Amino acid sequence: AVALLAPTPPMGWNNWAHYECDINESVVLENADALVSTGLAAKGYTYVTVDDCWMARSRSANGDLVADSTKFPHGMAWLGSYLHSKGLKFGIYEDAGWATCAGYPGSGKPNGGGADHFAHDAATFASWGVDYLKLDGCNVYVPSGQTKEQAYKTAYDAQAAALAGSGRSIVFSESAPAYFQSGEWGNPAWFSVLGWVGGDGQLWREGYDIATYNASNPNASRWGSVLGNYGYNRWIGRYAKPGNWNDPDFLIAGDPGLTADESRSQVAIWAMQAAPMILSSKVNSLSSAGLAALGNTNLIAVDQDSAGRQAGVVSSNGSTDVLARPLANGDRAVAVLNRTASTQTITTPLSTIGLNGCTAAAKDLWTGSTTSGVTSLTAGVPSHGTAIWRLTPSSTCTTVPTGQVTGD
Ligand code: DGJ
Repeated sequence: AVALLAPTPPMGWNNWAHYECDINESVVLENADALVSTGLAAKGYTYVTVDDCWMARSRSANGDLVADSTKFPHGMAWLGSYLHSKGLKFGIYEDAGWATCAGYPGSGKPNGGGADHFAHDAATFASWGVDYLKLDGCNVYVPSGQTKEQAYKTAYDAQAAALAGSGRSIVFSESAPAYFQSGEWGNPAWFSVLGWVGGDGQLWREGYDIATYNASNPNASRWGSVLGNYGYNRWIGRYAKPGNWNDPDFLIAGDPGLTADESRSQVAIWAMQAAPMILSSKVNSLSSAGLAALGNTNLIAVDQDSAGRQAGVVSSNGSTDVLARPLANGDRAVAVLNRTASTQTITTPLSTIGLNGCTAAAKDLWTGSTTSGVTSLTAGVPSHGTAIWRLTPSSTCTTVPTGQVTGD
């Protein structure tokens, strides 16, 4: 079998949700160094991706993409070597259309038609030592006689072929589904696009951007955005498997705009949903609660579980959501989210997650302590907090089919 490029969800950092276009070499270096000094890099957060606005406004005379030389004085090959020297990996941003969302040169066909730049740009990225490409989906030209979906599929297929021909293993993060989402569910085109992106790349943005940091109002709540992205990701667990991941967008845990419990919840929910764990924050200013949650190896192990099964929501009553996820060794991860404004004592019988007629050893993934012989899970869950356990069922369990457990 061919080795998968992303057998487990990619982990790392991207500047966008904290810095947007205010990006430069020193910002990337500062955050890359902080991934190493905080210990997050050693725990797996290794892909460092420079998002939109890294380029000069036009290509060179021979058609090459070039970095903005004021923002990146040493150039992108130098940046790649710097990251590699720290044990990190180099990610870069481009767009499937004629221009990026911020108006820089895209890799796709010009507006009105003509030749794309996918192979040319993939060769440039490979020569810079790029390990990960995020290909956004603004400004995609739709030729007459084609549907929007056909135009996107043509572009993403072409990029996938260009990466395969680049001579370098480059993880491919797609954005096509995000340009077809409308509302939470029930849009046939969205599901159609989700049906083919896994053939082209390893992960894909499926919907809205997580709320960005607002320097003029840093404490504006970003919790609604976390809940919203989790909310639509719950419908599409069937598309996740080793080598193919739904991406509900960045982890902003530990950045301003989330409480300590909200930060913990985002990491727990992303881990349950087998989501890419790409921080987008100022890494050397993370809150202590955020940093602890991001570095919690119990949660990372759930996210990175080799079975690659995304949790489904097995029970939800408007105030409490219960998520469950089968793990490779036969354990189950279970999380209980408290959506309400006050602490709730919540009891979840094992039957809710499809385990019947048995007991389990329950490891609390926040404290690390294990209780054996439980038939239900009880926790005082703070407002917007999440309780999370890893269960080892006794051998006498009767289980319902896993499809029901994962909400497929
Ligand atoms: C839209 C994407 O969803 C964001 O993550 C970011 O890449 C911006 N475009 C950049 O313009």
